[in-house]
Amino acid sequence: MKITFYGHGCFGIEFGGKNLLFDPFITPNKLAEKIDIDKIQADYILLTHGHFDHVADAEAIAKRTGAKLISNYEIVSWFEAKGITSVHPLNIGGSANFDFGSLQYVNAVHSSSLPDGSYGGCAGGFVLSNAEGTIYFAGDTALNLDMKLIGERHQIDLAFLPIGDNYTMGVDDAVRCCDFIRCKKVIGMHIDTFPYIKINHKEAKLKFRDAGIDFRIMDIGQAIEL
Ligand code: NI
Ligand code: MN
Repeated sequence: MKITFYGHGCFGIEFGGKNLLFDPFITPNKLAEKIDIDKIQADYILLTHGHFDHVADAEAIAKRTGAKLISNYEIVSWFEAKGITSVHPLNIGGSANFDFGSLQYVNAVHSSSLPDGSYGGCAGGFVLSNAEGTIYFAGDTALNLDMKLIGERHQIDLAFLPIGDNYTMGVDDAVRCCDFIRCKKVIGMHIDTFPYIKINHKEAKLKFRDAGIDFRIMDIGQAIEL
């Protein structure tokens, strides 16, 4: 699968032959100035929760591409009111099948208001599976014991974990999370965008390495094949 990093918690993943875009927050992100949102392809836009730093460019990209928006019921309804008609609402624990594979919306321990203050439902993450493998996209979350259930239910090959601390779990808890979800391959996210979440990359890499985890932090605009 091809993975492209667009900054903060936003990634494009080619999965099952489809372009999946997660948590688009690009135009307000000074670190992602070189990314042109009009060039991003998307068949699906997946939103983990309603916070501005996860949904800022979702409306524009959904309207340009016609991508199907997948999120919780409250967030999907908020975007439907903005004229986005291709949607799929979920709630925590629910699974559904799509043409790229299966998807489960799983618990995150976080909050989820929308940019105008509307209720954004419960914050979540996604587990996506097909013959290429299984991905856990955690969104913003604290370390929590439900992650053990995710690891028991799914054989996770690759996890996208927040490691910035302050608003989400930090590196130490993310290393512990790998134990809970039984995953040895991690891409770190939710770092450096704001002063509160600036982290020492070298130190983070050492901690994951010492735990025997294949860990990377991608550069904004970088694309990799995994
Ligand atoms: Ni958040
Ligand atoms: Mn966030």
